[in-house]
Parts: sequence; C-alpha cells; structure tokens
Amino acid sequence: MNELNHPIKPAEDLPEILISADRIAQRIAELGNEINRDYVGLNPLLVGVLKGVIIFMADLIRIIEIPIEVDFIAVTNYSPVSRDQGFVRLVKDLEIPIQNRHVIFVEDVVDTGMTLNYLLQNLQTRIPASMEVCTLFNKPKHRLINLPMRYIGFDLPDKFVVGYGLDFHEQYRYLPYLGVLSPTQYKSRFAYNG
Ligand code: IMP
Ligand code: MG
Repeated sequence: MNELNHPIKPAEDLPEILISADRIAQRIAELGNEINRDYVGLNPLLVGVLKGVIIFMADLIRIIEIPIEVDFIAVTNYSPVSRDQGFVRLVKDLEIPIQNRHVIFVEDVVDTGMTLNYLLQNLQTRIPASMEVCTLFNKPKHRLINLPMRYIGFDLPDKFVVGYGLDFHEQYRYLPYLGVLSPTQYKSRFAYNG
C-alpha cells in the first residue's frame, strides 16, 4: 500500500483530546476502589463487551485487589434494513457459567442503551446472583432505554468519541486518551472507504 491511499492518519492529525489519559487513570482508580469495597467476599465475575472494552478492562482489573474472575462477550449491531435500529446479535458467548455469580458488566460506552439492554436481558435468563453495570463513558443524550448503571466513569457530551479502546471504522482504539474527531477526519476516512 503506498502513502497516498494509506488509511492511517499522520501523527500530526490526531483527534483532539476530550479527556486526558491522566484523568481517565484517576477515575478508573476510583471506580476500581468502589468495586474493591462493594464486592468483598463475593468473587465477582467481570464481563467485558468486546472489543472497545479491552483497555478499560485491563486498567480496571489492575486496581482491583479482591478475588475476581474475567470473561468476555461479543455482540454485533445489525439490522436487515438499517444499522441504526438497535438490533443486537451475540457473536461470542461467555465461557464461564454465571448462575449464582455476582456479575459486573463492564462497558466502554453506553449510548442508546440498546446493546446493554439486550445483554442484560440475555444474561438475566441464566439467573446470576446479581448483575450490575460499570461503564467508563456514558452518553445520555440518545438513550432509548433507561438502565440502572451502578458505576459510571464520565458523562460525555453528544459527540462521537474515539481512543482508549473506542474506534471509528476500527481506527484510533490505541490512543491513550479520549478524543473527538474533526469533520475532516470523518470525511477523509469515509472517502477512503469509498
Ligand atoms: P449503544 O447505542 O448504547 O447500543 O452502543 C452501541 C455501541 O456503539 C457501543 O458499544 C460502542 O461500540 C458504539 N458507540 C457508541 N457511541 C460511540 C462513540 O462515541 N464512539 C465510538 N463508539 C461508539
Ligand atoms: Mg464499536
């Protein structure tokens, strides 16, 4: 692939910082310590929703000092008509049974709430002892379904964000901070995709 059609932006054109790596780390330490206090003796199972959650999960579990277990689930949002209608399909199930377990759902971002709603309903049928949600980022503006969320890192404005695990067409997950794409960055990526 030559330089002209390479999709990755040059280093000087990175998304603008919305929340710095330091602020994210500080907030995750607070969330992790809340979990340390709330789950003493319960050996909770942290369930991460792939792929955006990988960086948050990695940082969160290194704050936690009580025994926990970790598993992952993967979904895809799809619809025969339009991707925007909030249909969700499971593409990778859990490996650990959750019956009678204290489950903490770990999410990178909750936007409409459709993904989380599907997952909570699905896992509720397996009769866990308890189920709570821990999301690093919360975008309340477009919420379609109100779900109880016990741990929330940051409430975000109505912007499409990338970095710290979150992607735009699979790009930018690696940024250590949370960023906002400029209109030019949006457009050039769409142009590349044709
Ligand atoms: P939902 O609308 O709450 O179901 O969120 C669905 C998924 O959309 C999330 O798990 C993210 O993968 C993605 N998403 C929502 N908002 C953003 C964003 O601002 N940046 C990157 N991904 C997002
Ligand atoms: Mg995503």
